[in-house]
Amino acid sequence: MTMTEKNSAGKSAITLTEEQKYLFDTRGWLLFPSVLTDTEISEMKDYCYRLRQDGASLPLHERSSIGGPLLSLADHPVVLAMMNEFVADPHLSSETGYGFRLENSFLALRKAGDTNFGPHGGGGLLSHGYNSHLYRQHENSVYAGLSRAVWGLNPVKKGEGGTKFLTGSHKAAFPAPASTQDEHSPLWEEYECPAGSVLFFTEAITHTGAKWTNTEVDRVAIFNCYNSIGSRWHQWEPNSDAVATMSPLQRSLFRPVCCQDNLV
Ligand SMILES: [Fe+2]
Repeated sequence: MTMTEKNSAGKSAITLTEEQKYLFDTRGWLLFPSVLTDTEISEMKDYCYRLRQDGASLPLHERSSIGGPLLSLADHPVVLAMMNEFVADPHLSSETGYGFRLENSFLALRKAGDTNFGPHGGGGLLSHGYNSHLYRQHENSVYAGLSRAVWGLNPVKKGEGGTKFLTGSHKAAFPAPASTQDEHSPLWEEYECPAGSVLFFTEAITHTGAKWTNTEVDRVAIFNCYNSIGSRWHQWEPNSDAVATMSPLQRSLFRPVCCQDNLV
């Protein structure tokens, strides 16, 4: 068993601290502030606006949130560390193939007033997990099932429309209280971060989008969702021509959903 140590750009996975692993496990979400450089943020944001406003000017296979400079987010060293720790199957990881899949990616570009409130997930520790919204743990190890990375290319201010969480609810025995159908319930926890930050969370936690109220900048965020090699929730497929242009290591993110003989 070899966990993939380097990504497709030859960069090593970051080393997660004890605190980061503990916080992700107990809270169900974890923020890494200011991961991207100003140049990366600027290039990626330009690409996002081009995608949304003038997508036809891009080749068909590049018209997605894993196109152009955004592809580097898919297997960023921070993603590699988090997925190796919380999602990857160590029996299906190697230096030539990741032990996890990227099964969904989309761009959220919202203006002030756009809303996306819709709580879902929760109680994943006790769920049967038929649909990947599960959370499993043993002493010193976790399998977080379906897990999301959210790259924010603009700053997120508290209370102005970032993803909200019922912190710790991936381990909840009771359903989310009815009062949390109110977007402003004090049970919802929010984060704030500078541009170029990445937020990870297990889809087994109760979470929701929110109304974007920042009038200075849009919500510009890439949502990438990962799962283990043998599991899948989303119907999404990447463009096959786009996958064909990727490096072998990146292509391993999109290999068939099965465990048998699926070690690259
Ligand atoms: Fe979700």
